[in-house]
Order: sequence, then structure tokens, then C-alpha cells
Amino acid sequence: MINDRDFFVIEPAEDALLNDIFDNNHDLYLEIGSGKGEFISRYPISHPEWNFIGFEMSEKRIRNCLRKLNVEKNQNVRLIQRFVDARIASWFTKASISGVFIQHPDPWPKRRHHRRRLIQQDFLDALAEVLKHGAQVQISTDHEEYANWILEEFLQNSNFTSLQDDPIQMHPNLDEHIVTWFEEVQKRQGFNPHFMLFERI
Ligand SMILES: C[S@@+](CC[C@H](N)C(=O)[O-])C[C@H]1O[C@@H](n2cnc3c(N)ncnc32)[C@H](O)[C@@H]1O
Repeated sequence: MINDRDFFVIEPAEDALLNDIFDNNHDLYLEIGSGKGEFISRYPISHPEWNFIGFEMSEKRIRNCLRKLNVEKNQNVRLIQRFVDARIASWFTKASISGVFIQHPDPWPKRRHHRRRLIQQDFLDALAEVLKHGAQVQISTDHEEYANWILEEFLQNSNFTSLQDDPIQMHPNLDEHIVTWFEEVQKRQGFNPHFMLFERI
């Protein structure tokens, strides 16, 4: 009998293309850093016509996600335990991804650690390659300096534009905002998220 882990967690070879892991050709969306799984277990339920891959580098967090996922309710979700960076350009065919969600990427607050931040030009160039034109990238962070950094990096990159009047607005921008565990913890300490929405031109 197939168990939930076998259903959800895909272990493709590093050089395998990930476009065909679902047995239908629905639009493909990515979440990067699924954490404890609030978003990846809930948002796809409202979008059964889309497929979702959640990338999460930590095995412990993959197990957290699995506790929230259910084979009957989450047919359109798969997880991959992998560190996402500019290699993403080789994981998908060009212009094949319909959208990306990133809630609370690690802010790496110390200046000497800034180069570890996910949002950098090489990553954005790689992401632009695999995104369809018109695809949206939704990012939230409660770290104000990282919010401004993210905005700068996107605005510097000619492949993207912000879709918001206030590009780091303090109110949610999705049809359904999923409050994650991390967002909840941070809000209790007085850190409220900035929400950003960019479009692949
Ligand atoms: C601050 S937590 C936020 C988790 C979740 N999105 C939330 O809002 O609660 C960041 C998560 O992203 C994962 N992560 C950080 N960088 C990553 C990367 N480059 N690729 C995959 N996962 C990453 C971490 O393991 C962690 O679970």
C-alpha cells in the first residue's frame, strides 16, 4: 500500500526535469520554503485545477508538512527536499512555471550573511528563465530591511516588475491569505509582514 510519504515526497535525480511529475498537464506553481506546511496543505485545495510543488530543504520540515497533507484532499501537491538556488533554471523547461510563492524566506540579517539570501540577481535570472511571461511571484517577509532588499533586487532585474502601488505593502495580496506558523509567531512579537507581488514581464 502506498503511504502518504511515498505519494507526496518525490526524490528525483538532481538532473531530472520536474515538469512531468504530475500525470496531467495542469499549470504548475511552486512554493519555496514550505516550512511546517500551512500554505502547501491549504492553498492548493482552493485551486484544484493547478499543480503545486513545495520545495523544502529540511527533512524535519518535510515531516511537519506531511502531518498536514492528506492524499484525498491534496492530490495536486508534491514535496521535494531540496535547497533552491539558481540551479532551478535546469530543473524545469523554459517558460513552464505559472507562479511562485515564498513566505518568510530566511532573512540572513547580518551583513556578512547577505550573500546567502535567496533573492539575488543570479537566482532571479534563473527564475525568469523558467517562469511563463505574466507569471506572478508572491513574497512576504516581516523583516523590513530584507523587504527593501527584495524590492531592490526585483527592480534591478529587467525581467520583473512590481504589481503593487506600494511594492512592500502591509496587507495580503492573494485571493486567500494563509497565515503560516512563522507569520503567527512573528506577529505575536510585533513583526508584521510586508507583502510583495512581482510579474515576469
Ligand atoms: C523562516 S522559515 C518560513 C517557513 C514558512 N514559509 C512559513 O512562513 O512559516 C523558512 C523555511 O524555508 C526553508 N528554506 C530556506 N531556504 C531554503 C531554500 N533555499 N530552499 C528550500 N528551502 C529553504 C527553511 O528550511 C525553512 O523551513
